[in-house]
Amino acid sequence: MGSGSSAVTVVLETPPLALYVHFPWCVRKCPYCDFNSHTLHGDLEERRYIEALQCDLATQAPAVAGREVVSVFLGGGTPSLFSPRAVAAFLACAGRHLALAADLEVTLEANPGTIERGRFAEYRAAGVNRVSLGAQSFDDGRLAALGRIHCAEETRRAAAELHAAGLENFNIDLMYGLPGQDVAGALRDIDEALALCPSHLSHYQLTIEAGTVFAGRPPTLPTDEATDEMLDACRSRLDRAKFTQYEISAYALAGRRCRHNCNYWLFGDYLGVGAGAHGKLTSASGGEVVRTTQVREPRRYISSAGRGTFTRTPVPACELPFEFMLNALRLIEGFEVETFTGRTGRPWESVAGKMADLVGEGLLVATGACYRASPLGLSFLNEVLLRFVTEIPKTAGQSRLSTALQPAPALSKRALFTGVGGGNVK
Ligand SMILES: C[S@@+](CC[C@H](N)C(=O)[O-])C[C@H]1O[C@@H](n2cnc3c(N)ncnc32)[C@H](O)[C@@H]1O
Ligand code: SF4
Repeated sequence: MGSGSSAVTVVLETPPLALYVHFPWCVRKCPYCDFNSHTLHGDLEERRYIEALQCDLATQAPAVAGREVVSVFLGGGTPSLFSPRAVAAFLACAGRHLALAADLEVTLEANPGTIERGRFAEYRAAGVNRVSLGAQSFDDGRLAALGRIHCAEETRRAAAELHAAGLENFNIDLMYGLPGQDVAGALRDIDEALALCPSHLSHYQLTIEAGTVFAGRPPTLPTDEATDEMLDACRSRLDRAKFTQYEISAYALAGRRCRHNCNYWLFGDYLGVGAGAHGKLTSASGGEVVRTTQVREPRRYISSAGRGTFTRTPVPACELPFEFMLNALRLIEGFEVETFTGRTGRPWESVAGKMADLVGEGLLVATGACYRASPLGLSFLNEVLLRFVTEIPKTAGQSRLSTALQPAPALSKRALFTGVGGGNVK
């Protein structure tokens, strides 16, 4: 890949590779959710969907021949609507088409409202070794207001099932800044979650996304000041419980960071299979980074998957620094200069001036060859990222890049929820 204006030559490296698999149905669509998830009407077409996934994987696998896969993420939607047998069939197929690492991380997203007794033990036998449980809150009134299909007690039961199945490595998803919530309420949710002994906690500020039911009929949310106070209080509580914040929304016990998401944030590669799944692949020899997108609508996906229907879009070289920063600056520890150069193929000189300016303004911190956002920079990450948008040519008005900043208002204290490549990051 050319370096544009600079004479310095940088070689693209082949980064670690992961696999994302999308399951697009839920028992009921939540009013805040803009993921590619659809209320299930009638019977789940489990067999046909798994067959479509297998065809999709078989079609895409040759592009990564010989490369080791370090993690698999079964996300949604609600993958736990699918039987352990179906998950086992898909994972066996993945083993035939891909070189899976010996210590492969395999995460399954589960909705507490879909977990029957003994189910997690069967998922574990199928090859799942990590679970992400969508708790959201432990206040039954708030869960109802969020349109969730489960109560707090069902989340507690699901966590007990996880421990009984020997799946100690599990995440709990919580949201904060909920309608009617105050700091004490947000802290109660943290305490309830910690009492279930997870190894990881994802803590998302509720955002009102375009096209959702909440966007049409917005609930009254706490003020920005109150929400910031919740975040600070919850972060301290988690820190005291030895849950280290390693990304804007992610906290983990030692050794329990989500390998799959870390790979996204360090601009690694991933195959994306399933309805609407995104992928990112680097061709070091071809000198390009390519994004893939599968057909979004589940029925169309079932009838077309495996026939090469996904689109391949090379990322213009000038957009790579922004895409890299959008992901890597979410990490509390930041990134090394050589990760930037190796994974974007761009010389450091292409961003060095902007990085120095941001360090000077106290928004970034440089330690040797490592750069990270300062606490101030993390609070105003949108503003930091906007500095890297200037490299985009005017013609990129319709690219994904221009939409990538939309989820959160610029210059606000709210953090970006999804990164580019998006929709897969959980
Ligand atoms: C795609 S969902 C998958 C989990 C599973 N479907 C569930 O909801 O139980 C991943 C997580 O994103 C978070 N999330 C989804 N929409 C959100 C929004 N508008 N604001 C903040 N967090 C959101 C929720 O915490 C959710 O558990
Ligand atoms: S939040 Fe989870 S359960 Fe709710 S609609 Fe989205 S994907 Fe489905």
